[in-house]
Amino acid sequence: MAVFESVADAIGNTPVVKMKRFGAQHNHNLWAKLEYLNPGGSVKDRIAKNMIEQAERNGKLKPGGTIIEATAGNTGIGLAMLAAMRGYKLITIVSQKVSHDKVKLLKTLGAEIVITPTGKKMGDPDHFLSIARRLTEEHDGWFVDQFYNPDNAQVHYDVTGPEIWEQTEGEVDVIVAGAGTGGTLSGAGRFLKEKKPSVKVILADPVGSILADLYDDGRTTPGQYIVEGIGQDFLPGNFHKDVIDFAIRVTDEQSVQAAYDLMKLEGLFGGSSSGCIAAAAAACCRGLEGTGKNVLAILPDGGRGYMSTIYDDSWIKEKFPNKTFER
Ligand SMILES: Cc1ncc(COP(=O)(O)O)c(C=O)c1O
Repeated sequence: MAVFESVADAIGNTPVVKMKRFGAQHNHNLWAKLEYLNPGGSVKDRIAKNMIEQAERNGKLKPGGTIIEATAGNTGIGLAMLAAMRGYKLITIVSQKVSHDKVKLLKTLGAEIVITPTGKKMGDPDHFLSIARRLTEEHDGWFVDQFYNPDNAQVHYDVTGPEIWEQTEGEVDVIVAGAGTGGTLSGAGRFLKEKKPSVKVILADPVGSILADLYDDGRTTPGQYIVEGIGQDFLPGNFHKDVIDFAIRVTDEQSVQAAYDLMKLEGLFGGSSSGCIAAAAAACCRGLEGTGKNVLAILPDGGRGYMSTIYDDSWIKEKFPNKTFER
């Protein structure tokens, strides 16, 4: 098909490209799946579309209704695009930590924004999930609930996983992804493992997130980190631990350097989570025995949402006063 009925049909089928220079010094093939080439600029377009369509089908989302979601920005952007097209109102609950670029973009796309403080515990009335539930009642709306909504992981099982399978002609050996909700990793990972049980699924987790700790030893003490969109301070329902083979922890410094390297060495302009995931994929390649294995990193979003954070020199200087990054 050369043309689409709507922008919703242009979601998915993102390209896979070979990384020839990034993370050199290994004997394997390193690939990147460019989720930032979705129309809303991230992997989250996929779940926005599927969750809305399922809610329309089962009557939870009525014509002209209000959509409510807690989001690091990208899910909101995907939802805003589809809400505009289909005539819904959108309210997004966004953590203080999210970059101004993404908040501005959400506003531009017509979403109402509620900013919440970081560091609130689950159950606290100011935790973003509590606020989302409250607003849903007040507006008689539909709470998308990407962390627990099974239609999130399901679309990665139904679509993202099969895309990777076809694009690699079944030659994929390892996939590396981050987990915000866990949907990408759980859905695509499960599909690929069912197709080929030897496929390994690797979690790239920022140091400070509890997900890698939960996976390894059950510890749950969260810390602070600057990477956006992945890592977590609670266990989301879409994070299916059984799909993961191992977790690689990545520091903020490694994530930022990898994001710069992706640009410099491959012309791939990713966000902070892309840096984190690419750094983990390169580490995985270096640790992998044998030769010629195909390691595929799923890069969730692009760098334009981070022009006032990781791609801003003064912001970087403030966050890393003793570190000089190579650009
Ligand atoms: C920038 C970014 N990267 C990665 C992810 C993680 O994707 P998932 O929710 O499928 O785990 C998200 C979303 O949470 C995100 O916003």
